[in-house]
Amino acid sequence: MNPVIEMKHVKKMYDQNRIIDDLNVSINQSEFVTIVGLSGCGKTTLLKMVNGLILPTSGDIFVNGKNIKDVDLIQLRRHIGYAIQGSVLFPHMTVRENIAYVPSLKNKRNKQATKDAVQKSMDIVGLDKSMMDRYPYELSGGQQQRVGIARALAASPDILLMDEPFGAVDAITRSQLQKEIKQIHQKTGITILFVTHDIEEALLLGTKVLVMDHGKIIQFDRPQELIDHPANDFVATLVDRQRYPMLHSDQNI
Ligand SMILES: Nc1ncnc2c1ncn2[C@@H]1O[C@H](COP(=O)(O)OP(=O)(O)O)[C@@H](O)[C@H]1O
Ligand SMILES: [Mg+2]
Repeated sequence: MNPVIEMKHVKKMYDQNRIIDDLNVSINQSEFVTIVGLSGCGKTTLLKMVNGLILPTSGDIFVNGKNIKDVDLIQLRRHIGYAIQGSVLFPHMTVRENIAYVPSLKNKRNKQATKDAVQKSMDIVGLDKSMMDRYPYELSGGQQQRVGIARALAASPDILLMDEPFGAVDAITRSQLQKEIKQIHQKTGITILFVTHDIEEALLLGTKVLVMDHGKIIQFDRPQELIDHPANDFVATLVDRQRYPMLHSDQNI
């Protein structure tokens, strides 16, 4: 199978600091990759390099077989959904207008196609029709997050990038959203890269988990493999709570 995303010898420097260090990774279609690691280890940087929001200092990134150096980044981003933490909705636009934003750029002469895309992505994320004409400030945090995901899905992307998307919602909403994103993945077969600093979330959602530390990939494997065969002490410590949850129940809330 050809990889959907491939990084070869990717390096990112800020001043003299090496943020991403000779990173090589290959991600297949329909994988749900969770990216986990401590704060500051380079997760967001890695994610933003996939849609060209951050350009590597050296190395190559291929999306659908094409080196992103050779493609128009605006075009690239139109088939890569991007959802981040908190409300990033346009505050002066209704839910409908927010979700319609990218599809309407695509379907300039076909208003019905945009309407259908909005309806479809609202259905997928479980947003009631009655929300259509509300403004972001009239929604709860969980609903805003759903609109953010619906907007990211509305252009029918084949890749969805998510950066700690559920970090700002309460525990119950978070667990609902986790179930929903899992279902969305199963229904659509979209390739997902999902950044989290929560190992529990990473193991729960990922078909594969990518563990990062100081700009390097420490392990990239099925969740059970991480638990059974952690690559080093860092991974072992990270997954430890998953192996003996009863010993850590106070921390698992
Ligand atoms: N624009 C920037 N200029 C300088 N340093 C940056 C910049 N963006 C990120 N960094 C640094 O790069 C490192 C990785 O950041 P980031 O990818 O955001 O980490 P994470 O998402 O894992 O918390 C951090 O040490 C951060 O301070
Ligand atoms: Mg980050």
